[in-house]
Amino acid sequence: MSTTDIGIDDLPIREELRGKSPYGAPQLDVPVQLNTNENPYPLPEPLVERITERVREAARGLNRYPDRDAVELRTELAGYLTRTGKYPVGPENVWAANGSNEVIQQLLQTFGGPGRTAIGFEPSYSMHTLIARGTGTGWVSGPRHDDFTIDEKAAADAIAGHRPDVVFITSPNNPTGTAVAPETVLALYDAAQQARADTAGALVVVDEAYVEFSHRPSLLPLLEGRPNLVVSRTMSKAFGAAGLRLGYLAAHRAVVDALQLVRLPYHLSAVTQATALAALEHTDALLTYVEQLKEERDRLVTGLRDIGYEVTDSDANFVQFGRFDGEGGAHAAWQKILDRACWSATTAYRAG
Ligand SMILES: Cc1ncc(COP(=O)(O)O)c(C=O)c1O
Repeated sequence: MSTTDIGIDDLPIREELRGKSPYGAPQLDVPVQLNTNENPYPLPEPLVERITERVREAARGLNRYPDRDAVELRTELAGYLTRTGKYPVGPENVWAANGSNEVIQQLLQTFGGPGRTAIGFEPSYSMHTLIARGTGTGWVSGPRHDDFTIDEKAAADAIAGHRPDVVFITSPNNPTGTAVAPETVLALYDAAQQARADTAGALVVVDEAYVEFSHRPSLLPLLEGRPNLVVSRTMSKAFGAAGLRLGYLAAHRAVVDALQLVRLPYHLSAVTQATALAALEHTDALLTYVEQLKEERDRLVTGLRDIGYEVTDSDANFVQFGRFDGEGGAHAAWQKILDRACWSATTAYRAG
């Protein structure tokens, strides 16, 4: 075999990674990009200026490692959560990483891992499954109702049966857009603690990546008295800063302390910390876009229903609709929408 013929399967990789595919949402160079649920608006110019100032300042100290504990950033994030989440959290309750994907990875490295299991209620965010696989954590796919809400009874039964170490609840959920009622989270939290009463319980992660777009308030106040509950957040959606890579969580301080056991030292660069701090200074301006997007989302839901599609109620910055039974199904519809979006943008450009 020549070395040019070598593929993944010829390498001594972990058995459970053989034949698997990486995360692969298409990143296409087209005028209308909606498929990774980013915020479509560019950052406002005054914020771009502020980021430039803050990064210039940070650049002067790049000969040193960054603040390993990101204290200033965690303090500002705690302030944001306290103001908007109707629940007081301090920097000791907050942890930040390179995107909420890394936050989830650190959670699974700490609370999952070989011989342990996580459960999620699918369809849901595919990275929960992939990060479970990457950290050697077993994965169980839990049920939903036909309308994509979580089937509380079936979910509690699945938790009792599989006794997972980690439970993922995504609210609002990706890809359905559905938010989860606090009573459901509480029922599943209790079920998870009961199922693992032989140990110190199970970690319940509420992924609130889209919560700023929701009709419902944040589930943050549920943290009160629940040391095994975590709420994860991101600046990729509402803050319109997916390129920044900044995710964070709120939890009991013991959870934050536990994550120190697995996080790489200096994982958040000084440039990332400076940029995130600048964005947090402009929170109010950024959240104005959220209101515009919510209005557009609701308009889209109504419009799609008016022309006969089934549309799932959305609490996120995207809308799930169907059904596409024709040739090629949903994928063919996706391709047509993509072709049409490129075409109309090009036409608009030519006409202008
Ligand atoms: C439910 C959910 N959680 C987390 C993320 C990842 O966010 P981040 O960009 O912070 O890694 C996404 C991204 O699409 C998501 O849909």
